[in-house]
Amino acid sequence: MGGPLRPTVHCVRLRTPRNLEVCEGARDLVQFPSHEEGGLIFAVLTPDSDVDIRAYLGGMMDDVAAKGMDQWTYVGNRVIHGPNWKVAYDGYLEGYHFKAAHPETIEPRTHSNIMEYDAHGPHLLVGFAAKNMLTLGEVEQNELWQHETRGYDFIRLFFPNVSIFIAPEITQVAQMIPGPGPMENTTILHFLHPNPPENEEDNTARIEMADWLRDVVQEEDYNVGLKLQEGLATGLMKSVLLGRNERGNQYFHRWVKWFADGDESAPKPEL
Ligand SMILES: [Fe+2]
Repeated sequence: MGGPLRPTVHCVRLRTPRNLEVCEGARDLVQFPSHEEGGLIFAVLTPDSDVDIRAYLGGMMDDVAAKGMDQWTYVGNRVIHGPNWKVAYDGYLEGYHFKAAHPETIEPRTHSNIMEYDAHGPHLLVGFAAKNMLTLGEVEQNELWQHETRGYDFIRLFFPNVSIFIAPEITQVAQMIPGPGPMENTTILHFLHPNPPENEEDNTARIEMADWLRDVVQEEDYNVGLKLQEGLATGLMKSVLLGRNERGNQYFHRWVKWFADGDESAPKPEL
């Protein structure tokens, strides 16, 4: 947020037999490949990687960049801890858990049993039907795309660990970072809004909304994931079955396997 990164480099020539040039920061910071667009910065934690980050982000980045988040207001962030990142990621991929896990928070706003998926490489756009979706019946077909958050909602997932949820009250960008242990993840929830707060009351409402969403993710999503892991840790469950109604979850786990196998000639997963 707040404009592009502008690196400054200050170099000095040392009077040595070989006239060494030393640049400030060159010896104490490691540079990572990164890509900045639409207010978001993506970095690859392998310094010598030559991956084309923009090509990897593909059509999903086109969609997110069009939101113009570089012009948005940063509300703040909240850090929470939950289960293994794959278990945590699963919760952003389907809405079937809304009725069971979020009966008083998400479920009153959003249907539990209707979803639509679109994939851009390993990245997923998950569409959810809001309870007031029938109001969209009055909207022209070619205008429907402009009604996000008014009849339907999207979660945009950048594989493998970023989830973006846009709501009228606030936008949540979740970074799920594996660790510190294999059964844990650390999630940084960033909160944004397209406009600066109009007044103190508005500002307070955003802070309360950020706290509310943090509590929902921590207490209703991640605590379920932590309990699920306790069951898995017994070793008595030999496999986890994902139903045909969990297309996004199946797709995600097939991509995890595709990357883990390390065979780039293998056919890529299809939605
Ligand atoms: Fe959830």
